Formats: sequence, C-alpha cells, structure tokens
Amino acid sequence: MNKNPPRLTRGAAWRALQAHHRQVRDLHLRQLFAEDAQRAERFSAEGAGLYLDYSKNRITAETMRLLLALAEERGVAVRRDAMYRGEKINVTEKRAALHVALRAPRDAHILVGGRDVVTQVHEVLERMAAFSERVRSGAWTGQTGRRIRTVINIGIGGSYLGPEMAWHALRELAAPGMDFRFVANVDGADLARATADLEPAETLFIVSSKTFTTLETMTNARSARAWLAGALGEPAVARHFVAVSTNAAEVRAFGIDPQSAFGFWDWVGGRYSMDSAIGLSTMIAIGPQAFRELLAGFRAMDEHFRDAPPERNLPLVLGLLGVWYNNFFGAQTQAVLPYAKALARFPAYLQQLAMESNGKHVALDRRRVAWQTAAILWGEPGTDGQHSFYQLLHQGTRLVPCDLIGFCRPTSALAEHHDLLMANLFAQAEALAFGKSAAELAAEGSPRFQTPFRVTEGNRPSNLILAERLTPATLGALVALYEHAVFTQGAIWDVDSFDQWGVELGKELASRIVPELQSAEHALAHDSSTNAAIRRYRRLRGPAR
Ligand code: F6P
Repeated sequence: MNKNPPRLTRGAAWRALQAHHRQVRDLHLRQLFAEDAQRAERFSAEGAGLYLDYSKNRITAETMRLLLALAEERGVAVRRDAMYRGEKINVTEKRAALHVALRAPRDAHILVGGRDVVTQVHEVLERMAAFSERVRSGAWTGQTGRRIRTVINIGIGGSYLGPEMAWHALRELAAPGMDFRFVANVDGADLARATADLEPAETLFIVSSKTFTTLETMTNARSARAWLAGALGEPAVARHFVAVSTNAAEVRAFGIDPQSAFGFWDWVGGRYSMDSAIGLSTMIAIGPQAFRELLAGFRAMDEHFRDAPPERNLPLVLGLLGVWYNNFFGAQTQAVLPYAKALARFPAYLQQLAMESNGKHVALDRRRVAWQTAAILWGEPGTDGQHSFYQLLHQGTRLVPCDLIGFCRPTSALAEHHDLLMANLFAQAEALAFGKSAAELAAEGSPRFQTPFRVTEGNRPSNLILAERLTPATLGALVALYEHAVFTQGAIWDVDSFDQWGVELGKELASRIVPELQSAEHALAHDSSTNAAIRRYRRLRGPAR
C-alpha cells in the first residue's frame, strides 16, 4: 500500500473499476450463469459457521479481481491490523476501536495505553456471569425478597438495539419464567407501556449508557426510579437498579451502588457494544455459557476476517460488493431480509451499525468526499416483506441489492413451516436474479395484454447468507460479519467509521427548545417554521404538567 495514496476516485483501482463497470453493467445474470456451470462454487465462501453465496451478483471474475485490488490499494488489511492492535483508528476522537478485544480469548494480550485490556474484559465478564447466575437462580431478589421476573433494559442507540435484537433472536433459550423488555424512546409511552402490567417488587432495571448522560436514557431512568421508589421506597433502588456504563462517576451520582455497576471502555463504540457489559440483559436471558458461545461466534468471524484469503473472506467480499453497487451502479439503498422472524430487529440493528458508522461526508484528509458513502440500509423479515415492498424489488425502477439470510434448521417447534419459509427465500433469490421473460409468459399462456406488466426483468442482485441454525454463536458471527463489512467500506471510503458527530446538532437544539416549550416567557428566535411549530405546540399541549 502506498503511504500517501491519491484520493479514492483518483486511484488506479477506482478508475479500472469505472472502466470495467461500463463493460459489464448490462450483462444479465441469466447469461453469467449460463456461461459458467461453476459460478455458484466460484463465488461462494464459508467461515465461522456462515456460508455466503455471492454468485447472484452482477460480477465477473474480473470484477472481483478489481474490487480486491481496490481493497489492497486502499489498505483495508493494513487498517484492519491497526484496529486489531488497538491503534487509535478513531482519529477524530483519538480512540482505539477495539471491539475485537471484547471477544478475545483469555490468554490474548492487547495493550491500550500500556494496559492489557483483555484482562479487564474478562474481569467484567466474570462479574456479569456471577450476577446473571444470581438473578437467573433467584438468589438475587428484589427488596421484598421476591425473585426477579422481568428485566428492563433502559438505553438507546447502541445501548439498546443490540440487546433488543439479541433478545428477539435468542429468546427461545431464555430462562423460563423471565421476561425481558427494552425501553429506549423518551416518549413516556415507552416506559409506561413497559411497566404497565409489572410488579415493581419483581422488576430489575438495567440502565445502559456508555456516557450515562444521554437525555432519553437518563429521563427514563429517573422516571423508572420514581415508579419503583413510589411502590417500594427509595432504599429499594439498590436491589432493583444496576448500571452499565463507562462513566463510573455519573453512575454513582445517580445513586447506583458501584457493586452493581458493570463497566466498559471508551474504545468500545456504542454500536459495537452488544458483546460488552451492554449485553448484560442478553447474558441474564440466555445464561453465561450461551453468552460465551455468542462471543466465540464473534471471535470466529474476527479470526476469519484476519486470516481468510481475500477472495474467500466473507466480510471483505460483502463490504466490497456493497461498494460496487453503491459507487458504481449508483444504488442508493441496501435491503437486509432475514428469513427468520427471530431476526426481526436485525435490520434496525444494522441501520445504526452501517449508517452511524459510514454516513459521513468528510474523508480522513478533512476534505469533503467526492463519492457516495453509506447506502441507506433497511429491511424486514421475509416472508412478511414479500407481501409488502418486494413488488418494488422485482419491478421497481431502482436497483436494490439484497442480503437474504436464512437458517437450515427451524427456529420453532412448528418445524413443518420451515420448508415453506426456506422455499420462499430460495425462490426470491431466483426470481430477483432471473425474472420471467415475455417469451416464458407467452409459453405459459399468459394473456398478451398483460405481458408488459407481468414481465420481471431479473438481474436484481442478492447475497445469500446461510447457517445451519440460529445459535448464539451464529448470531455472533453474523453481527461480526457485518461489523467487518462496514469496516471494509469505511476503509475504502476513507472515513472515520467510529465517530458520530452528525447526531450532536439535533441534541444541542433540542436542549435549547425544551425550556421554550415549557414557558411562553421564552422569546423565540428560530426560523419562522420552527417558531410557528413551537407556538402551535404551546397552544395545544394542554396545561403545563
Ligand atoms: O446519539 C448517538 C449515540 O451517541 C450513539 O452512538 C450511542 O449508541 C447512543 O447515542 C447512546 O449513547 P449512550 O450509550 O452514551 O447513552
């Protein structure tokens, strides 16, 4: 890798890809498959229990060669190694991005500021395990001696999406008789609904916040404490509240016993934290052993990303294919379609991961990028989405690359449903790629007047990600697959994937507006639209509370 490479779009690899794109953009997947009986084999890879078939992409062997050359030219492997070593690759915040240390084996050593972070990670994991076991066994009781039946995680963004996603994914493994809920939104309805049918004496709150200053989380935490203390008295807070944070001082100031606080570190980004202490609710739900299996899945993918050859490297390939559509075909969005209801919250989880990481307009050289960065990621589980937005995927005017995710073993006792589910997954990938032509419709006797409306052109790209079953380990591997694919893309686009300055302005403005809503005495000095909205709100909000 050149130490001072030219800006992305001036590099030789980029230019070669542009020229290549002009040559291959009209090739149809029908033709590509017809010409190469080995295509599925050629464009598939396995790692960490996941199988990736990327043959239904609009690529040739030359495309992959050029994309891998781009990764080489942009130093993806060099940056990956710097990340794994704990270098401060989050340059705007001068921090390491060391989520790989969260799942490093006990005997590994990774130094940050001269301290071995792996030892710290395992110390916290052990404390989490001991606490989880006590809650699960009933040894940890509430103030009145009753066992905990419901755990509510209060947190938002990375302190919420991972735990909630993991709960939905793995709830079949949860301790019987326990329920887990997640409160994120500052809308009081979120907490009110979550607690409406609960018995305070049997409820444990985990206040999860990296900074312990986030408006939504601290507001919800205070209201939850009032709800609990109102029923059981203030001293009960110690038995019913624990905290997960990097900010020990604020945790103490909130009144949570340091013994009930689980730490993590500034080198863990919020959206990369579900396998840190932020996963405490996950560990209580599935138990420490299953949580260790989750970590092992993450680790297996970390090792695969580090060791697998480029053309068989799942995160590298996945990330590069995203670049291919985003930057060369001009695709604006990417759909993630899990064929598992258990992964219903996976697309929402990935939205933060991909878009907060790479939704950036300035490159590391501090200049505005001259290329597109993160695509808009979205999705819903199949088969639900098939009866909703798939029409656009098949016949709309936009190119939407899709990731289809499935499991060979059923995730429920209704095993007879599973073939139907998976048949739909395979059918969709086939329909997207190959479509149905006018000639085929005619051969089927379809009325001629309908033909133009019924033709599905195909040539819509998709990846197939398949695992044997949805286990903690496969979930860990799947999350790490996307973490590293996002990393790959950030390295290509030359952005800092680990900061999120763009969310600050909205927070700042909201804190200015709060007092303006609460008292009409405040003069309004916003634009005319914001002023009008605030005035209308003041008029209609009802008496001050
Ligand atoms: O506002 C964005 C953000 O900072 C995310 O990056 C983060 O995951 C979320 O808020 C929550 O932050 P915290 O864990 O500090 O409450």
